[in-house]
Amino acid sequence: MGRTNIGIVLNGVTGRMGLRQHLLRSVLAIRQDGGLPLSDGSVLWPEPVLVGRSEAKLRDIAERHGLTDWTTDLPAALARPDVQVYFDAQVTSARVKALQMAIDAGKHIYTEKPVAETLEQAIDLARLADAAGVKHGVVQDKLYLPGLRKLARLVRSGFFGQVLSVRGEFGYWVFEGDWQAAQRPSWNYRAADGGGIVLDMFPHWHYVLEQLFGPVRTVTARAATHIEKRWDEEGAAYDATADDAAYGIFELDGGIIAQINSSWAVRVNREELVEFQVDGTQGSAVAGLHHCRIQPRAATPKPVWDPDVPTTQRFREQWQEVPDNDTFPNGFRAQWEQFLRYVAEDEPYAGDLWAGARGVQVAELGLRSSREGRRLEIPELDR
Ligand SMILES: NC(=O)c1ccc[n+]([C@@H]2O[C@H](COP(=O)([O-])OP(=O)(O)OC[C@H]3O[C@@H](n4cnc5c(N)ncnc54)[C@H](O)[C@@H]3O)[C@@H](O)[C@H]2O)c1
Repeated sequence: MGRTNIGIVLNGVTGRMGLRQHLLRSVLAIRQDGGLPLSDGSVLWPEPVLVGRSEAKLRDIAERHGLTDWTTDLPAALARPDVQVYFDAQVTSARVKALQMAIDAGKHIYTEKPVAETLEQAIDLARLADAAGVKHGVVQDKLYLPGLRKLARLVRSGFFGQVLSVRGEFGYWVFEGDWQAAQRPSWNYRAADGGGIVLDMFPHWHYVLEQLFGPVRTVTARAATHIEKRWDEEGAAYDATADDAAYGIFELDGGIIAQINSSWAVRVNREELVEFQVDGTQGSAVAGLHHCRIQPRAATPKPVWDPDVPTTQRFREQWQEVPDNDTFPNGFRAQWEQFLRYVAEDEPYAGDLWAGARGVQVAELGLRSSREGRRLEIPELDR
């Protein structure tokens, strides 16, 4: 069987996500494995066209990875008939304009989240893409983490009985940048540049909750800027104007209450950088990036509150590890493969620009909830 090329413009490949997760771990990894096998026995071969603002950086990346096709001219790249897909991993604030151009050029769209900084823009993009008849997808990498895949398996198996609540803890200390460089780009801490943990993380929490447990109906949030002064990549001090922590409560269908803390100003005392505890009538689970542990109802210990006696129970040791029973590829690559199969052979695909818009909606309402100090309903989007 033959091989079909698919031209993919990758914009933002000089960034953290664009380079490592999307170009190296996904697109080039697919090529290293001989391309993407399709159901008819043929192979889809991604041909990346690297796009960015810096010639020097693009040339360097291309040379290091044996690539030759790169340009700083996005309109020219989008005008090429051998390009079918536009992918965006630029800073959030640059995304909408580029996606609009790509849709106008008739390209299929795959993009990092959040799809836009405002709900209005996100809806406009989804409508524009639908009207143009192009296919569209948004990165939902957390669903592909081994720990969350095991959690999804538990949900499907009926392990929990009735799910009651979800509590999530995400975060770690992001250095301020004075005597130790920050490990995240500085734009994340400036509101005017599209930063903020609510806009960054609520879209993730939204698709995780929606796909694992059901529609999210309300949000109550308190966002905070705990660290008000940081130092950028050049060592210059700046005011951190964006939220760096968010304490959110989400109500789902079926009375499920999810409470998720997100923070770049917290020190880790957990097994993993994100953990979700799910409590159900028949059992509970704690899932992280890789691991998932369970405690069924019939094996639940019976602690008794007695402040006078030090507890002898080792609560964490009373949980059982869920086995892998599977191999888990890189999550970004797994989703790329799904999206490319959707483009090439119409395989079903859930995370479109509408799902992306719902994520932006929850972020926007979360910030409003924080400003106004109240719980907000999440209305259905009007297509
Ligand atoms: N899915 C995930 O888990 C995940 C994780 C982190 C970031 N992201 C998203 O990926 C996107 C990129 O994040 P990152 O951490 O890779 O950022 P980064 O700062 O490392 O990279 C940003 C990229 O955008 C380009 N860019 C275009 N216009 C720019 C401008 N005006 N100013 C600065 N850079 C500009 C940069 O050259 C660079 O290639 C963001 O939208 C972010 O929300 C997703």
